[in-house]
Amino acid sequence: MIHQSNKSGPCTAVVGLQWGDEGKGKIVDLIAPGFDAVVRYNGGANAGHSIVVNGERYALHLVPSGILYPGKLAVVANGVVVDPDQLLKEIDGLGERGVDTSGLRLSDRAHVVLPYHKIEDQVRELALSKRRDAGGGVGQIGTTKRGIGPCYADKVLRALAVRVGDLRRPDILRERVEISCEQRNALFGALGVDHEPFDAARIIDAALAAGERLEPLITDTVYLLNDLIDAGSSLLFEGANATLLDVDHGTYPYVTSSNSSALGIGAGTGVPASKIGRVVGVMKAYSTRVGSGPFPTELLDDTGDRIRERGREYGTTTGRPRRIGWLDLVAVRYSAMINGITGLAITLLDVLAGFDELQVCIEYEIDGKRTGRFLPDSADLERATPIYTALPGFLDQIDAATESNDLPDEAKRYVSLIQDHVGVPVELVSVGPDRSQTLAGSPV
Ligand code: GDP
Ligand code: IMO
Ligand code: MG
Repeated sequence: MIHQSNKSGPCTAVVGLQWGDEGKGKIVDLIAPGFDAVVRYNGGANAGHSIVVNGERYALHLVPSGILYPGKLAVVANGVVVDPDQLLKEIDGLGERGVDTSGLRLSDRAHVVLPYHKIEDQVRELALSKRRDAGGGVGQIGTTKRGIGPCYADKVLRALAVRVGDLRRPDILRERVEISCEQRNALFGALGVDHEPFDAARIIDAALAAGERLEPLITDTVYLLNDLIDAGSSLLFEGANATLLDVDHGTYPYVTSSNSSALGIGAGTGVPASKIGRVVGVMKAYSTRVGSGPFPTELLDDTGDRIRERGREYGTTTGRPRRIGWLDLVAVRYSAMINGITGLAITLLDVLAGFDELQVCIEYEIDGKRTGRFLPDSADLERATPIYTALPGFLDQIDAATESNDLPDEAKRYVSLIQDHVGVPVELVSVGPDRSQTLAGSPV
């Protein structure tokens, strides 16, 4: 097993370079022993991070992926949107499996996802798809319906928002929830949405009860994290969602509602960018996407189906089949730039075993011109045609490899192409879901 020590060095971030589900949970779990705390800085229960240890699978949504190490600090920082019911369910589920969750901490400034956020998420998506069916509009975003967008919208609107600290302040909580319910009931009524009016009193009671249970975890995580750094501790930041879903830098509007690239760490934790010295970009050996939006290398054929089945590409959070495509290095290079990555972790390479030939997109053609630049605006990206380079496939299974030099030559060539094209060293190659199925370094 690989343990990477970073005890006295700068903080490290692990971020996804594609559209999510790159295996961030696996990589964070793998390297967590070298750090004093693992910190989530964005997103909420839209994330689904899987970890497999000795055949045991854990699916985490809000709890940071360092939790499997007893006593390790696992911090849910201020940039996260927290659904208290989901968090408590996760804590209870881990406890039943004997996992020690005593290291969990929750920012008093994280925003709270309440029942009306989840309903509003569903209602808005349904309205978009109905409009599309009637012949108009962009269609639904394809959200996870976890209330992420409406909760972040309330955060920016201010007067409606509830923060974790407010769960301990009944007067503020009551006022915020009442305003929210009044406004949403009026809005839903005006829009003709068929929904029972929100009952503020019930929502307040449930939120206060959840707050009571979460009380021991709640703290000022901004001071907690900065004090740790001052004391010489090292922190590992765990990105949720991924760079191409970042609200500013992803394929807008088909993105999530937070800064899910490494650029979100400062605002989402209160730890300044100057403290982050290492950024590990996690990428699958091919591409996937869940939900709507442009996907230049998408495979809508048997090859795509074969990769989906081999990679078990079904959502960790929603169970939806993931869309599959060939590796898009134009997109990955863009994400590497946005995040300032210092190393790459390539995952799911084993899934590509058995294909005679592998295609990798290295440029786009748009309006008759070739470009190596990504086009994060969705309307532009829809017009891009991928230009591929073909590589010979590797026929033998590689999931039992223990060193990167054990890989077949064709697999080594595939990894080298990625490293050369992105211009950043490959630090890890993952050849199976288990912690143990990870190879250190790039093959030579
Ligand atoms: P995350 O959201 O980035 O943490 O990724 P997910 O956990 O949602 O999705 C990644 C999936 O791939 C999970 O089911 C992992 O168990 C699995 N996985 C991770 N690395 C590998 C790998 O190298 N090979 C295979 N076959 N599966 C992997
Ligand atoms: P992890 O952390 C894959 C996608 C949704 C949808 C869009 C907006 O497991 O990689 P949202 O519910 O956030 O408003 O949905 O973003 N999405 C993800 N796709 N993995 C994720 O997280 C995702 N988080 C959000 O499918 O297209
Ligand atoms: Mg996931």
